[in-house]
Amino acid sequence: MNCKERKPYDIVRDILKVIEELNTLKDVDAILDKVLTEAREMTSAEAGSIFLLEAAGLRFSYVHNDRLFQGDDASKQLYTDFTVPVSEESIVGYAAMTGKTLVIDDAYALQGSEPYSFNKKFDEDTGYRTRSILAIPLTTFQGKIVGVMQLINARDCDNNVRPFTQDDIQYAPLFANSASVTIERGIMTREIMLRMMKMAEMRDPKETGAHVQRVGSYTAEIYQRWARNKGVDELTIKRTKDSLRLAAMLHDVGKVGISDTILKKPGRFEPHEAQIMKWHSVFGAALFANTTSELDRMCMEIALGHHERWDGNGYPGRVDKDLSQVRELCTQSIGGEDIPIGARITALADVYDALCSKRVYKEAWPEEEVLKTILEGRGTQFDPDVVDAFMEIQDVIGAIRKKFQETKE
Ligand SMILES: [Fe+2]
Ligand SMILES: [Fe+2]
Repeated sequence: MNCKERKPYDIVRDILKVIEELNTLKDVDAILDKVLTEAREMTSAEAGSIFLLEAAGLRFSYVHNDRLFQGDDASKQLYTDFTVPVSEESIVGYAAMTGKTLVIDDAYALQGSEPYSFNKKFDEDTGYRTRSILAIPLTTFQGKIVGVMQLINARDCDNNVRPFTQDDIQYAPLFANSASVTIERGIMTREIMLRMMKMAEMRDPKETGAHVQRVGSYTAEIYQRWARNKGVDELTIKRTKDSLRLAAMLHDVGKVGISDTILKKPGRFEPHEAQIMKWHSVFGAALFANTTSELDRMCMEIALGHHERWDGNGYPGRVDKDLSQVRELCTQSIGGEDIPIGARITALADVYDALCSKRVYKEAWPEEEVLKTILEGRGTQFDPDVVDAFMEIQDVIGAIRKKFQETKE
């Protein structure tokens, strides 16, 4: 029994309300988090994961497990990267292959006669015991499968694991299908952003897709820790993190406005070239100048301010509100908290990633050297609180680095 006996009308009304809330989210990770949270709430499931369908198969894209992962560990798990084939080798693979919802009362009691099989590896590695499973293909109204959501270990009123009920089996897929359109939109938004970055990358080979994905994720995670340290409420954190990841990915998009001879120059810039390069911050901000949304505002702040320094020695300094009227940079410096927080965090994430990466004119630095340099910049180049938050989540930073490696591009 599901201990929350509810009328169908109430359930459907709640689903519609959640779909409305989902429509306000932009970043695919934030959307998956919300979908999983609501589906688990609806079915009292202790854990769950979402796999998104890509060319190579089903990519593990989001996970919750109340029993196993708490705090930083939960964030770290989100950057685990693996893909399973769309086949009967796994439960999610089978659900994607057939488009059918699978209901399993006890994964360990499967007879072996089923067309799919349960992989015990996760349980063996973690000591977790999977029992009931509800695997739901995420199908849009056009019949397109975008992924599979797997809900695990539904709980009864006494908190014991129970099989999924008829209500769960009826309503969770209804919700999943309605949410699939939002997920598809989230994937599309991310892809459009990556394409904008690809344009910048064609101009400047240093700006790889992997670099922007890492900078986006570092920024989102550092922000979360920074905001929690500051006592920001969780709702604001979730919302800001959503936009921040995307906005940080576009930090250097203004490079499309810089001439090829400078951008593609191997080796270091001459002083006059470095001076021209500085304009990429203003060009990037100009792309988002007619801000219509919170995301636009953040994109603008980050593009403009990601080379500012805490001590006021960065660029471009304070600029005219009308970006097309800017003729000169660094006429009036800005520093400290006058630099928007998104830009303060992206500044660190971008420098950290550049130091860790190989560039035409330098090898990748060893990790300790990189961290030493960041710590030396605490209070001069970087906001000290941002450096502290960054140092506190080194596990998560490591997981992000592992997930988005250059070779995968
Ligand atoms: Fe930049
Ligand atoms: Fe960058």
